[in-house]
Amino acid sequence: MKIGIIGSGHVGLVTGACFADLGNEVICMDHDIAKIKLLKRGKALFYEPGLRELVQKNMSKGRIHFTTSISDTVRFAKVIFLCVGTPPKANGEADLAAIQRVAEAIGRNLNGYRLIVEKSTVPVETGSRIYKMIAENCARKISFDIASNAEFLREGSAVKDFYSPDRIVIGVESAKAKSLLLQIYKPFKVPILITDVKSAELIKHAANSFLAMKISYINLMSQICEKVGANVEKVAEGMGGDHRIGKAFLNAGIGFGGSCFPKDLSAFIAITERLQIPSDLLKVVVAINESQQKYFLMKAEQGLEKIKGKKIALLGLSFKPDTDDLRNAPAMDIAEELKAKGARLIAYDPCAMPAAKKLLKGMQFAENAYEACRDADACFILTEWREFRELDLKRLKKLLKHPIVIDGRNIYDPELMKKNGLRYYSIGRREV
Ligand code: UGA
Repeated sequence: MKIGIIGSGHVGLVTGACFADLGNEVICMDHDIAKIKLLKRGKALFYEPGLRELVQKNMSKGRIHFTTSISDTVRFAKVIFLCVGTPPKANGEADLAAIQRVAEAIGRNLNGYRLIVEKSTVPVETGSRIYKMIAENCARKISFDIASNAEFLREGSAVKDFYSPDRIVIGVESAKAKSLLLQIYKPFKVPILITDVKSAELIKHAANSFLAMKISYINLMSQICEKVGANVEKVAEGMGGDHRIGKAFLNAGIGFGGSCFPKDLSAFIAITERLQIPSDLLKVVVAINESQQKYFLMKAEQGLEKIKGKKIALLGLSFKPDTDDLRNAPAMDIAEELKAKGARLIAYDPCAMPAAKKLLKGMQFAENAYEACRDADACFILTEWREFRELDLKRLKKLLKHPIVIDGRNIYDPELMKKNGLRYYSIGRREV
């Protein structure tokens, strides 16, 4: 299949590279000239395990190409995936300016039937808006279809997620669109849900908001657990053991971040408000998430007595492990708060430091976790990178000026920390 990808960011590039690897002919378009230049040279734009190798392999086989030209993309591809950004506006709504620009350009360049597929997360009813924009910009009457096929990739495991999704959701309004998408997804041996475009659009927002709600729910439990001396991990295990609830996404911590959950929740709230449906549930999910960072900072104040003048080692900055993405990273907000309270910060992250250096001013960076902890008054664990789970605790204790570890991700067994002489504070579990 000849496939066009418009928008070569995280979603677009992973989708393009994986479709190429499945034997399709793919053209990835982006209006950012510098980005396309880098991609043409086989360079990585961001850290995503396995992606660079996949792009290089398919470039050498001639199955993936890069361009800044939307007209070349429209002329080349039979199926065009829209993967442009839909960032939040000041009022929380999704900004569809990029979608509009692209839809108009597709309309101007349409020279025969094309299937245009929404891959970016968009508000329900965007499909019909895109249809109108394309039709209005088309010089003559040419038939085309709009479909919705949201991605459910997670950063850090995007390539793996692409090949083994739990399900594929296809929203279509015509038999032709359905048959084209089924042809593309033929190699996948996973359930494929076929529905109308609006339901498919809603599934993405509904799924992300539900996952965020699970996290806020367990974070609320963590605060209750701490007040009464219970253990949130056991509560999560007991709840998750019920197959109707499930164990996934019940890790208490410093809250969710990233480029998806916060943005999708605010967009979903804006949609419910537009539809005049109460959105209190979604708003509470956001409020609990915000309170979880304050709760962590309160814990820090308890552990250190006062923050001002203290040297604090921060382990982890990215919003989750295996990515260098700092967007809405709870660790970044916590770093800013600690700085404002007068702490001296020294951070280490296995991947995100180049980006963090540009954003966090007046802060030191270390070459590894141990160097960050040398002579520090406390060590804060903010992202659960694998290497932080495997620290030499005896060495850590020797390096720290005061043996205090405040863990926002619950990666250690409190008893093990105690045995190693560390004072350990975690989320929703007793201090040791
Ligand atoms: C999320 C969804 O998981 C994907 O299915 C979806 O495709 C994607 O958004 C998207 O819309 O593009 P992602 O943002 O990459 O993926 O990351 P997640 O692994 O979902 O983690 C999100 C945040 O929740 C992270 O900050 C993570 O630390 C936090 N989290 C996750 C918890 O605090 N507790 C948990 O139990 C799980």
